[in-house]
Amino acid sequence: MIRKAVFPIAGAGTRFLPATKAIPKEMLPVVDKPLIQYAVEEAYQAGIRQMIFITNHRKQSVADHFDPAVAPTDQYAQILRAITPDDMVCTWVRQPQPLGLGHAVLCAEPLVGTEPFAVLLADELMPDQPGITARMMQQFDQHASSLVAVQPVPREHSQRYGMIRGTPLTTDLISLQDIVEKPTPEDAPSDLAVVGRYLFTPAIFRALEHLPPGAGGEIQLTDAIARLLRQEAVLAYQYQGARYDCGSKLGFLQATVALGQQHPELGTDFTHWLHAQPSSPTIS
Ligand code: G1P
Repeated sequence: MIRKAVFPIAGAGTRFLPATKAIPKEMLPVVDKPLIQYAVEEAYQAGIRQMIFITNHRKQSVADHFDPAVAPTDQYAQILRAITPDDMVCTWVRQPQPLGLGHAVLCAEPLVGTEPFAVLLADELMPDQPGITARMMQQFDQHASSLVAVQPVPREHSQRYGMIRGTPLTTDLISLQDIVEKPTPEDAPSDLAVVGRYLFTPAIFRALEHLPPGAGGEIQLTDAIARLLRQEAVLAYQYQGARYDCGSKLGFLQATVALGQQHPELGTDFTHWLHAQPSSPTIS
């Protein structure tokens, strides 16, 4: 049973400068919700109630966003209460130094303890319903193995991702054989990239301990998964739904346009406006 989700949010957000000089990138809104809220809602909809944020001194506004204190008479109280339902518990752990994603996840150990848990990277926005975390949890219920979500990417993008190799088990599931952080296209073991959703058995914490820095000089979660693989089976879940890499400006814009079109209040008007725009002039 997975009851806890870890959200590593201590990244610097440099790819979004100047927007992120004073605002955490997780607070940048896609239409009308900050990026982090999409990930938290995905975990909540999967039945997870304890949200663990791995944070730093620059992320106070994320804690404020999820603070449940709302004036009951506020005309917007309903919208605000929905951010933090009564049965949701948010906890905050400071990552003392920016040592990498693997180190951030290890910082959650005192709060996770010895139970399986989810990790969600809010940069990756996957809005299809049912959410990807819920789908992965169904697989976890059956197999009780750690799972990483993957999608095919163009080979030339392999240096942005953890890349895997494995043996297909079913249409959705792959038995993981190898995982490498940000390899060159020549070294990538396949075109399948890890897309920021993980379910772990608590054995990942032992794999993270004393892990030397890897790609980019950081303690990499990918390297711990490679270690874990030597002890127990790990599965890859091949996700077919829409994904927006909101860690890049292009992906963020694509998410804004796609979610704008689907928005219950704005969708119809926005779609009409979009379709009425003259197409780009052809450059001859
Ligand atoms: C992280 C992980 C990488 C994964 C990616 C997904 O990289 O280290 O393995 O593929 O997220 O978005 P980052 O985007 O933090 O550089």
